[in-house]
Amino acid sequence: MYRTNTCGELRMTHVSKEVTLAGWVQTIRKFGAITFVDLRDRYGVTQLLFGEELTKQLDENALGREFVLQATGKVSERSSKNTNIPTGDIELNVQSYQVLNRSAVPPFTIQDDTDGGDDVRMRYRFLDLRRNAVKKNLELRYAVNRAARNYLHAQGFMDIETPFLIKSTPEGARDFVVPSRMNPGQFYALPQSPQTFKQLLMVSGYDRYYQVVKCFRDEDLRADRQPEFTQIDCEMAFVEQEDILSMFEGMVKSIFKEVKNIDYSERVPRMTWEDAMWKYGNDKPDIRFDMSLCNLKKPGSVYTNKKDQNALISDAGFKVFDEAETVIAIAVPGCSEYTRKQTDEITEWVKRPQIGMKGLVFIKCNADGTYKSSVDKFYNEDRLKSIALATGAKAGDLVFILAGAEERTRKATSELRLEMAERLGFRNPTEFKLLWVLDFPLFEYDEEGNRWVARHHPFTSPKPDQISTMIDNNPSIENASEYLSHPYAGIKANAYDMVLNGNEIGGGSIRIYQRELQEKMFAALGMDKEEQLHKFGFLLGAFEYGAPPHGGIAFGFDRLCAILGGSESIRDFIAFPKNNAGRDVMLDAPSTIDGKQFDELQIKLNLK
Ligand code: AMO
Repeated sequence: MYRTNTCGELRMTHVSKEVTLAGWVQTIRKFGAITFVDLRDRYGVTQLLFGEELTKQLDENALGREFVLQATGKVSERSSKNTNIPTGDIELNVQSYQVLNRSAVPPFTIQDDTDGGDDVRMRYRFLDLRRNAVKKNLELRYAVNRAARNYLHAQGFMDIETPFLIKSTPEGARDFVVPSRMNPGQFYALPQSPQTFKQLLMVSGYDRYYQVVKCFRDEDLRADRQPEFTQIDCEMAFVEQEDILSMFEGMVKSIFKEVKNIDYSERVPRMTWEDAMWKYGNDKPDIRFDMSLCNLKKPGSVYTNKKDQNALISDAGFKVFDEAETVIAIAVPGCSEYTRKQTDEITEWVKRPQIGMKGLVFIKCNADGTYKSSVDKFYNEDRLKSIALATGAKAGDLVFILAGAEERTRKATSELRLEMAERLGFRNPTEFKLLWVLDFPLFEYDEEGNRWVARHHPFTSPKPDQISTMIDNNPSIENASEYLSHPYAGIKANAYDMVLNGNEIGGGSIRIYQRELQEKMFAALGMDKEEQLHKFGFLLGAFEYGAPPHGGIAFGFDRLCAILGGSESIRDFIAFPKNNAGRDVMLDAPSTIDGKQFDELQIKLNLK
């Protein structure tokens, strides 16, 4: 037997028991004639005490960090206790030991605060995974996985695997492709999601499906994106939007309870996509704090049923506002005493190319009730006050105003809102706020390609009362710049996203389940009959054999774990992640393949 106990297990109740531990040498400290070794395994750290005799042996055959060691001895009470670790009351008085394996000197110290940079930790990820911080993240991931599975199983969902070597599933990214040796010149695509399979399973009658499944997308990577990531993918038959929202609100709440012991009893608030964009400039607003947008001016062609407050800023001779398509303000709490240097720094921040604004106007709402602004020349104090009040600003607050083209200004204001919240500590990672965003537009217009694209994916149905708008209208557009007035621009999707702390953690929709409407959708996206049959003939065919009404959702499992773990980087929650260039630096993949493999695949490289 290699061990009787783990390194995290022994307490005062074990004192004077004889035990054997096995683990990795974390630290070695020699005190005169005796030696202390901290032995680590997955469960914790236990202090080993080597007496004089054994220390002499160690002098001859030194231990090193990360050696694999087995030690037998008696548990004894420590003279100086360590309250920082659960085993800190005891130590193991070693009677005999054996080095089970040696270790080269590790390239970084395997401790909570490691000296290893990101790159070296990723190259030696198997060592990095020994660290507590990473281990905790993987434990949390497993707990989320278990909680989701328990909930779904209890609700009658069935886990069904779907293939990885498939034909393209459009989720808006590029496919990773795999050449087929047995079918020369032909390629499989790795699934961007199991979307079409889960819909086929509904046709087959498995009315509650789920899978914790890998998805593959060749897209630009960010902190919250990996080329292969995991979804909790779900689908249900005979459901409407309301059924899905309540089922999966239940799942997330149950995960909160089991993993974080949080009772999230209130109903998850709902917001339409249009309200989210109007109020927060963002389709995944962080609602842990307010600082909502005050729309001072908007173009006539968008948000047609929303009113701006243009009267507050017009007729002042201030060209920047007069000539801008959009003017939006936010009130930042408690910042009226910002110095010139601070407001200049934020002005530079909004001018960065990623934000792309030309400048920033501010109004200081001073504690004494006066108002001071960078545009005093154009607006007297009364007008400044009216603008400030419209934003909801109170004495002591600072109002920022951005002006420019609609899309850019709205996005920039949203970014500024998040940036200020970050600086002011409003984005507390231990507070969790869920939100459903509903009624997304069904289509987006790609002005460059002069065509409609599906905002979610082509299997999403329009709102039931807008199906006829889709059927009755021709998708073609003469003048691309006038797409906003095309009937398709106003069609809303029967789709929903779940947002947690400003991150999209899940998205789904009620699907199209009739062949005719699905064909109409494909046609709207510019696919002719031949292409439809070539790409999706299997699905269109299946819809002829009794497809039930159905809908579903997929959660970004890595994202959900990262946020619950208080981080926005999903890499920390994946055992073997890829870097930002999509490389696995440990495996050194992707890599070239040998000539024989090319021959078998009948492929010749033509690198440019
Ligand atoms: P969608 O494309 O919205 O929907 O994906 C669902 C969720 O997956 C997460 N996600 C990602 N996580 C990490 N890295 C990525 N590259 C990445 N891309 C997406 C997000 C997102 O909310 N088949 C549909 C679902 C459906 O309609 O049922 C789908 O895949 O958290």
